[in-house]
Amino acid sequence: MNEKRKATENYVSGNRASDLTVDKPIILVGLMGVGKSTVGRRLANMLKLDFVDADNEIEKAAAMSIAEIFEEFGEDYFRDGERRVIARLIEDRPQVIATGGGAFINEETRALILKRGIAVWLDADTDTLVERVNRRNTRPLLRNGNAREILTDLAAKRNPFYAKAHVKVASQVGPHNRMAQEIIKAIRIWKS
Ligand code: S3P
Repeated sequence: MNEKRKATENYVSGNRASDLTVDKPIILVGLMGVGKSTVGRRLANMLKLDFVDADNEIEKAAAMSIAEIFEEFGEDYFRDGERRVIARLIEDRPQVIATGGGAFINEETRALILKRGIAVWLDADTDTLVERVNRRNTRPLLRNGNAREILTDLAAKRNPFYAKAHVKVASQVGPHNRMAQEIIKAIRIWKS
């Protein structure tokens, strides 16, 4: 996006996004379907930071899709690669990092994110998540069962871990830009 449009977006948002400077990566965590990648891209744009999707980086590093990694090597192997990729991304410059839904559940990854980054939990109700994950069927954890049941179960198990994030933002009905603005507000409050 060109600078003029970026500036307009910041102005229109009324949030003076560019006022927020961060010296650490902003790391989005939360369940599948909550919008970590889409919102993360908008957020990075508003803050004039780069955006990186950890799942894409894992796929690039393995030269395989996540579904193929799960199928051929299993979940533990995937988690190990995920931990290493996220560690590498965190060491890089401050940027916005979207993580896969299970990343923050791994103790080592969570500790690193909490120590070196600003962890933002994006939360949404189950209806919203189900509606969104049903748009594509590439997620291995949703392949063998009912998405609503699996997501309800994952929320019960994972929410106590996500709750350890520095900041929590609930998913809004409406444009992803608004959620990105909510994240900026929440980080500002957390920093103050
Ligand atoms: C997973 C979520 C996925 C991906 C993998 C496992 C999970 O990412 O990392 O399929 O354990 O919740 P998204 O949250 O981006 O869908």
